[in-house]
Amino acid sequence: MSLENLFEAHQVDLYRDQYQVFKDLNLTIKKKESVAILGANGSGKTTLLKAINREIYPASKPNSWLKIYGKVNWDVWQLRSMIGNVSDDLHLAYNPQTIGMEVILSGFYSSIGVHGLMQYKITDHQLKKTQDIMRLLSLMDLMRKPLSKMSMGQQRRCLLGRALVNNPQTLLLDEPTTGLDLASTFKYLKLLSNLKKKGHNIILVTHNLHEISDDIDRVILLNKGKIIADGPKDEIITEENLSRTYEIDVGLSIIQGKYLPYAKT
Ligand SMILES: Nc1ncnc2c1ncn2[C@@H]1O[C@H](COP(=O)(O)OP(=O)(O)OP(=O)(O)O)[C@@H](O)[C@H]1O
Ligand SMILES: [Mg+2]
Repeated sequence: MSLENLFEAHQVDLYRDQYQVFKDLNLTIKKKESVAILGANGSGKTTLLKAINREIYPASKPNSWLKIYGKVNWDVWQLRSMIGNVSDDLHLAYNPQTIGMEVILSGFYSSIGVHGLMQYKITDHQLKKTQDIMRLLSLMDLMRKPLSKMSMGQQRRCLLGRALVNNPQTLLLDEPTTGLDLASTFKYLKLLSNLKKKGHNIILVTHNLHEISDDIDRVILLNKGKIIADGPKDEIITEENLSRTYEIDVGLSIIQGKYLPYAKT
């Protein structure tokens, strides 16, 4: 297993059903790198995360390969215990009646809920780990509360808890702050920052430039399945690159180290 790279794509084609999103994608993400991926709606951000997580596979063709942690072939269950995932897709898949504790425990099984705790042999280790995570994310009050009765921020924190149970090296976060108010967003970002400090690397898809913090090493800009800029964030987040990415005239202010885009015209 490569100690170097989380993701290595060489001339990779990626499809969503019949639709080709990436053609001849070449991209390497190192294991310890934290990366933000930005791009217009439909540019391929979620597709890329799904390829890392093995929810989708590359088309087979000569001289093309896609390695995750240095390996082409994976037992997806093993892989998913190494990669934590928070996304709208996952969130929507949950039955609203699932209680907080079940959401978090489901991370041990890489499943959507655990369909009644009694069916599963929950080990002492799993219970303790779940409680530790609930404490870490201030979720103790939500242990028995169904998702349907939680605020959006509380639900998202539960999903982050689910992503953390196996102590994964990598967290894939697809617009994790969608629907969160300003305070919840800031708290969530602080949590992510603390996780980064603990050694997790974060692959963050976001539309909010202000969420790109000092913890992010690298920014990748996508437009229609093509990487149009890739590198250290200060070099990549420029008016010119953002304008090419979003195909409108974007202005950019930087206030206290945070990027604030605005429409120029
Ligand atoms: N199941 C599907 N079948 C066909 N095409 C799909 C399917 N899912 C996604 N696509 C297409 O693939 C392209 C990339 O989608 P993807 O979800 O990766 O975009 P995205 O960059 O995450 O966009 P957003 O910012 O809206 O989340 C889009 O053009 C989309 O319409
Ligand atoms: Mg998406």
